[in-house]
Amino acid sequence: MKENKSFLKNKIDINSPNKNIVPVTTIIDSTNRLSIGGCYLEDLVEKYDSPLYVLDEITLRNSCKAYKKALEKYYPGASLPIYASKANSSIFMSNLIASEGFGLDAVSEGELLTALKGGVPNEKIVFHGNNKSDKEIEFAINNKIKVIVDNEHDLKRLKEISDSLNYDLEIMIRFTPGIECHTHEYIRTGSFDSKFGFGIEYLNTLFEVISKTKHLKLIGLHAHIGSQIFELDPHKDLGEIMVNVILQAKEFGHNIKELNVGGGLGIKYMQEDDPPSIDEWIKTVSLSVVQACKKNKLNLPILMCEPGRSIVSTAGVTIYKIGSFKEIPGIRTYLSVDGGMSDNPRPITYQSNYSACLINNPLNNNSKNKFTVAGKHCESGDVLFKELELGNCKTGDFICVFGTGAYNNSMSSNYNRIPKPATILVCNGEAEIIQKRESPHDLLKYDVLPDRFIKQS
Ligand SMILES: Cc1ncc(COP(=O)(O)O)c(C=O)c1O
Repeated sequence: MKENKSFLKNKIDINSPNKNIVPVTTIIDSTNRLSIGGCYLEDLVEKYDSPLYVLDEITLRNSCKAYKKALEKYYPGASLPIYASKANSSIFMSNLIASEGFGLDAVSEGELLTALKGGVPNEKIVFHGNNKSDKEIEFAINNKIKVIVDNEHDLKRLKEISDSLNYDLEIMIRFTPGIECHTHEYIRTGSFDSKFGFGIEYLNTLFEVISKTKHLKLIGLHAHIGSQIFELDPHKDLGEIMVNVILQAKEFGHNIKELNVGGGLGIKYMQEDDPPSIDEWIKTVSLSVVQACKKNKLNLPILMCEPGRSIVSTAGVTIYKIGSFKEIPGIRTYLSVDGGMSDNPRPITYQSNYSACLINNPLNNNSKNKFTVAGKHCESGDVLFKELELGNCKTGDFICVFGTGAYNNSMSSNYNRIPKPATILVCNGEAEIIQKRESPHDLLKYDVLPDRFIKQS
């Protein structure tokens, strides 16, 4: 895909960061140096080394505020935006989203613990997952965290637990609404082939089963139709479908108070991407739920949504150091960086595209060189960019990849025993570590050599 540095000249939308490629505080100064959050990227790598994840606090907070403000503007009932922590989970992120009044969605004991340690109130946390362990369910219940029932196995265990404790348990159920979404298209289907949630065709049976339990109180519905979605219609349809399911549940005596429409709003990774704004997305969801409730004379439920990518992706960049070059005449020139698929598995997994530039020549005015940017891992597919246009560059220069705040750090690995990068928070010229860099020694921490092998050596 043709890379175009004109993205650095785009007007920045400070109210809806998902519409920008770069963090809202990005500046290129008169000496052609790139800064984010008032910090020069070259100073950050000099101090904290590379590869380096950087998160811009103002972009994060602006994204959160945009969701809150739009919900207040368009939804007359109560509402709660919930951060999907799978996008980027840390004590810092939990703390930040809690300070913005958000709840949090977690899918493991690790994410639940991170949320609690970061100060997210337990009543604002929801626990998802298609295969929760008994230990995780116990952890959630002991901490009074709401469990989203995904399947019959969940239901059976929650019934057993609530019966054994003689304790009323409020639950939400996740169902598949028959809307299948891809970035630029969506389809409505009778059923939906997904590992998550109950099929919509099974809901009557489910409602009957729940109404016969002594202690399970069905209070909410959840659906999530996909990620990186650019269209608004799927979420308009989703609001209507979910309100119809409230009516359906009512026939079985369930009073649904909470409606969680999931996440999915897309972000701008490339110049040609044009996602709706946060305001437009919330407006669409809100109006759809309000109109459907009005039509059916229903009280408004508490509206919840679960954005992940559109909260954190644009706030994050990754800085890599350029190492080796390999020119294959007439074919391509490989440029290798000091990270790759272990800190960003999305290109090798999903063929994802990103925008990037040199930090000491971001506008690339001096050449149209194109490079295949390879990671350092022992895997031919470890390529971050198939064809990236960069200025003249050499070993030791740094590149900045934009839009890496979501599903990079959280999906990172230690493949080839490569330690994970540090994450630095930038704001008003201050840089602070929020996740330390791993060392190769850290990676040995969990290795055990049984005694009899030690004796042998
Ligand atoms: C249940 C659920 N909620 C929310 C999200 C967040 O989606 P996004 O990051 O696209 O906003 C996901 C992502 O996969 C999800 O599975």
